[in-house]
Amino acid sequence: MSELTQTVDVCITLNGHSIKATIPARENLADFIRHRIGLMGTNVGCEQGICGACTIRLNGDSVRSCLTLAAQANGHTVETIEGLTDSGEISQLQEAFHRNNAAQCGYCTPAMLITATELLNSKTEISRDKIREYLSGNLCRCTGYHAIIDAVEEVAEAQNNGR
Ligand code: FES
Ligand code: FES
Repeated sequence: MSELTQTVDVCITLNGHSIKATIPARENLADFIRHRIGLMGTNVGCEQGICGACTIRLNGDSVRSCLTLAAQANGHTVETIEGLTDSGEISQLQEAFHRNNAAQCGYCTPAMLITATELLNSKTEISRDKIREYLSGNLCRCTGYHAIIDAVEEVAEAQNNGR
């Protein structure tokens, strides 16, 4: 069997559900999530690890799903924007995005939410500069950066105040 036609069996816990599949060995995780499972909240832009639109969580860490083979997620836990929304984990941040008009076309928004949540959960001191730096790997073609930073900062301040 050639490298292009080789398949692998995977078992991935996706948003709390165990998914078993036989897939091409070279299928990336973004395609697995979008086209095999049908979860379209994970967007694909550059497919080169630059734009950040495809960010998901793998074992709790934010990763670029366009640069990750689905086979690398075998036996591991993957969370997408759908899972984080359903669990309510990011509802405070989603409300802040809504209040601050931080989503324009919305293409970058799922990945922005996932990356920002990683920062908010990091238990480090969060300044405006730190938010900018942390989100610098997530590109927004609508240039809504100020509103996005405002929304994340609002949640960080609420966390600092124990709300
Ligand atoms: S599509 Fe993955 S980083 Fe751009
Ligand atoms: S809101 Fe359109 S790309 Fe960010």
